[in-house]
Amino acid sequence: MAWQDEFRELFPITREFAYANVAYTSPLAPRVAQATAAFFDGITRARSDKPQWLRDADALRVSLARLIGGDARRVAFMKNTTEGLNTVAQGLDWEEGDNLVLDDQEHPSNALPWLSLRRRGVEIRTVHSRGHDFNVDDIWARVDARTRLIAVSWVQYASGLRIDVAELGRRAAERGIWLVVDGIQGAGLLRAQVDAWGVDAFAFGAHKGLLGPLGVGALHLSPRLLEALDPPYLGPSAVTLVDRSSGEPHVRATDRSDARRLETGNLNYPGIAGWTAAIGLIESAGPERIEPWVLELAGALGDGLRELGLDVVTPRHLPSTTNSVRLSDSAAALARLRRDGVVASAVEGGLLRLSLGPYNNHADVERILRAARGLTH
Ligand SMILES: Cc1ncc(COP(=O)(O)O)c(C=O)c1O
Repeated sequence: MAWQDEFRELFPITREFAYANVAYTSPLAPRVAQATAAFFDGITRARSDKPQWLRDADALRVSLARLIGGDARRVAFMKNTTEGLNTVAQGLDWEEGDNLVLDDQEHPSNALPWLSLRRRGVEIRTVHSRGHDFNVDDIWARVDARTRLIAVSWVQYASGLRIDVAELGRRAAERGIWLVVDGIQGAGLLRAQVDAWGVDAFAFGAHKGLLGPLGVGALHLSPRLLEALDPPYLGPSAVTLVDRSSGEPHVRATDRSDARRLETGNLNYPGIAGWTAAIGLIESAGPERIEPWVLELAGALGDGLRELGLDVVTPRHLPSTTNSVRLSDSAAALARLRRDGVVASAVEGGLLRLSLGPYNNHADVERILRAARGLTH
């Protein structure tokens, strides 16, 4: 059996629906749900074993780092993408008059943490998109001598626009500007090489292309940014403790180059158990096979939608996993597709978003296109 067919079988939802909504949440493979359930089951039997849970978390750091082209020592678990982005925004040492560059297409998770810095005297220099389109040159045009950081999504949540992060990383590194990437729409579906690309912070959650549960995420940092960041919150972690040796208690961070110093308290161990199972599925399918497959399907879907005369707004500079279609009534279109067994989402700006994952196949694409034909009438 082809790997794609085997992979699809892990997701029973594919028997019922053409699931085109990974940009919202991944459907869970029962194995992932079972791994989380098994964690709780252990606790009902008084099998609490924190040292083992921490070892499991560290093992997942290794897998995540391998998957995104980073280093396990520079992975901190977060509750989600938003927390990772806030950790960077609040952990940097801003000076009055510093600025950062942010485009007008970002998900609120990658806008609010930066906008909040206005109260610390940071100027926000906005990249104004054309329709849903902008590129590295547009971002670069907003950079000036006081720019300290650029924040951008690898793949935009609404339009599916994919940015050339490698090119942006090259330019940012030359100027010593922090490059912060919201990676959640691409991670697991597309191949990231965060260290080679010069990404200083890569924030992502488990619940989209990484096929894991909600409520767990991670932040990967470059050595330089990790060194520069002060944790916005302090709590006990694998490398943070209260030193009481001198009578007066004080904070001791035992290793500044270990991203675990950004973690506080217990981790989301059940989430980590589920995410570990999900990454296991990706690793056994072969992460290098996923990107070409998903792009092949998304490319066929985009072509088919355009042939139907639909207004696909997703820019085409780089192939994307998402196709977004502008419609006069995207909510009605969504309901109509659902009746035909297609799961998608409606997002801001009257867009119907169709996003594919590795469990999809060409039969799904055809089913979506058959259902979409009705939208033209
Ligand atoms: C680009 C982008 N960033 C952030 C988020 C929110 O992620 P989280 O819930 O992990 O913070 C989403 C989706 O919900 C998203 O599409």
